[in-house]
Amino acid sequence: MRKRGIFMTTSFAVVLGAIVCFSGIQVSKAGDIDAKKLYMTHCKTCHGVDGKPTDLGVGLGAREFADAEWQAKTTDEQIIKQINDGTPEKMMPFKEKLTQDEIKALVSVVRSFGKK
Ligand code: HEC
Repeated sequence: MRKRGIFMTTSFAVVLGAIVCFSGIQVSKAGDIDAKKLYMTHCKTCHGVDGKPTDLGVGLGAREFADAEWQAKTTDEQIIKQINDGTPEKMMPFKEKLTQDEIKALVSVVRSFGKK
C-alpha cells in the first residue's frame, strides 16, 4: 500500500513536470524571439556574422547588408519576401522552416547591419 502511494506520487510528479516543461516551450515560442540566434543558425553560413557575406555567400552572389544604398532602396516587405521565398539556386526559402514572426524578427537583424 505504501509502495503504491510512492508510485502514484512519482507518476504525478512526472506528469506535472511534463506539463510544466511543455508549457514552458510554448511560452518561449510565443514570447520573445531571439532573432540574432536565428540569424546565427540559419543565415550566417552565407551572410556572415556581421552581414558581410562569407566566401560561400560571395560565390552565390550575396551582397553586403551594410551597403547603405541597398538598405535605403529595400523595403521590409522585400526582405520578408526574400526570406520566405529565397532565390532559386542561390538562397533556400525559409517559409517552411521559420514562422512569420521569426521572419519579421530577422528583418531587424538584417537592418541592424546597415546602422554602422
Ligand atoms: C545558402 C546561402 C544562403 C543562406 C543560408 C541565406 N542566404 Fe540570403 N541570400 C543568399 C544569396 C546568394 C542571396 C542573393 C540572392 C539574389 O541575388 O537573388 C541572398 C539574398 C538575401 C537577401 C536580399 C539581399 C539582396 O541582394 O537583395 C536577404 C534580405 C537575405 N538573403 C536574407 C537572408 C536571411 C535573413 C537568411 C537566414 C534566414 C538568409 N538570407 C540565408 C544566400 C543565402
